[in-house]
Amino acid sequence: MSNNRPAILFVCLGNICRSPLAEAALRHAVEQAGLAVDIDSAGTSDWHIGKAPDLRAIAVARRHGCDIAHYRARQINQADFSRFTHIFALDGANLSTLRGIAPTDAAAEVSLLLDVIAGREGDSVTDPYFGEDSGFEDTWTDVVAAADALVSWLQTQNES
Ligand code: 4NP
Repeated sequence: MSNNRPAILFVCLGNICRSPLAEAALRHAVEQAGLAVDIDSAGTSDWHIGKAPDLRAIAVARRHGCDIAHYRARQINQADFSRFTHIFALDGANLSTLRGIAPTDAAAEVSLLLDVIAGREGDSVTDPYFGEDSGFEDTWTDVVAAADALVSWLQTQNES
């Protein structure tokens, strides 16, 4: 994005479960903190383009006070690597995919989301798609912890 504000993109496989929840958690945390940050999410696959989030993701977000029903899935594209300052993969497989498709002149820093949490470096956010409903609560817990860590980091950026 054309100004200097941080621009953060979350990326999972389908953009219907984990990355929309990460987007919602950070939007909420950033609003609470009064920060100006561009936030979006995308998938590495084209499987769900244009679709609303998984109903279980919509439900867990709603239980925690966030409405994501209007989000629509999209696939990451080459321009994202210059539009965003930071691209966070939700898991190691999608991190590998991102590193494989990143243009050589990519401006964005590409890393694993849970690396922002001390003690969770290298961990993936488990894919809840094929599991029990409770997996979506676990996803929410992980993305809220990451959002909180990101807000703390963004606040230190603002001070410097
Ligand atoms: P997400 O979860 O990557 O967190 O959005 C998935 C969504 C869909 C599929 C796999 C994971 N799928 O196989 O369609």
